[in-house]
Amino acid sequence: MAKVLVLYYSSYGHIETMAYAVAEGAKSAGADVTVKRVPELVPEDVARNSHFKLDQKAEIAKVDELADYDAIIIGAGTRFGTVASQMRNFWDQTGGLWFNGKLVGKVGSVFTSSATQHGGQESTILGFIPTLLHHGMVVAGLPYAFQGQSGVEAVKGGSPYGASTITDGDGSRQPSEVELEGARYQGAHVARIAAKLA
Ligand SMILES: Cc1cc2nc3c(=O)[nH]c(=O)nc-3n(C[C@H](O)[C@H](O)[C@H](O)COP(=O)(O)O)c2cc1C
Repeated sequence: MAKVLVLYYSSYGHIETMAYAVAEGAKSAGADVTVKRVPELVPEDVARNSHFKLDQKAEIAKVDELADYDAIIIGAGTRFGTVASQMRNFWDQTGGLWFNGKLVGKVGSVFTSSATQHGGQESTILGFIPTLLHHGMVVAGLPYAFQGQSGVEAVKGGSPYGASTITDGDGSRQPSEVELEGARYQGAHVARIAAKLA
């Protein structure tokens, strides 16, 4: 049974929702799944004044525990076209794991969200993949075998690089069923690859 970590950062809860859908998908493919988040870095008053979702139940991950999993699926929202710095900061602490090759051969995968349709989902995911490759990880995305990402009948996230959701400028849009399906598909896809490699 592959051990899969879904590691996320979410200010407003969209990525949190997507993370549990990814986890559901990984579980459905037989994986032993853990959902954790990375620490918040903005001052508490800023988080409160910005209406961040502060009641998130997932435990905070420790950097060294990344070595304990066969696959790590990373979720964080777009910030100015790139990944939220909370996630970046966490991975900036993985130098020791990198030096000792602790993540070599594990599966890595990324999902995201943004306010606008063309606000940087692809650049966020693609911008994070070099980090996974520097660690020697095997990168998996969201194949077009997940047909929900095709078609223009509705506003929707999803790309071959990874699942995604679009939140609208005020964050009022929640992940749609097809976006959640994409997240589940990515979770199952990664879990199956990790099981084969493990
Ligand atoms: C400082 C900041 C920068 C952002 N930059 C972008 C951006 O470049 N493009 C975009 O579409 N949305 C942008 N957003 C919106 C976030 O991507 C969105 O709030 C996030 O994906 C919601 O996910 P969450 O609910 O999990 O936090 C930005 C938000 C903040 C706070």
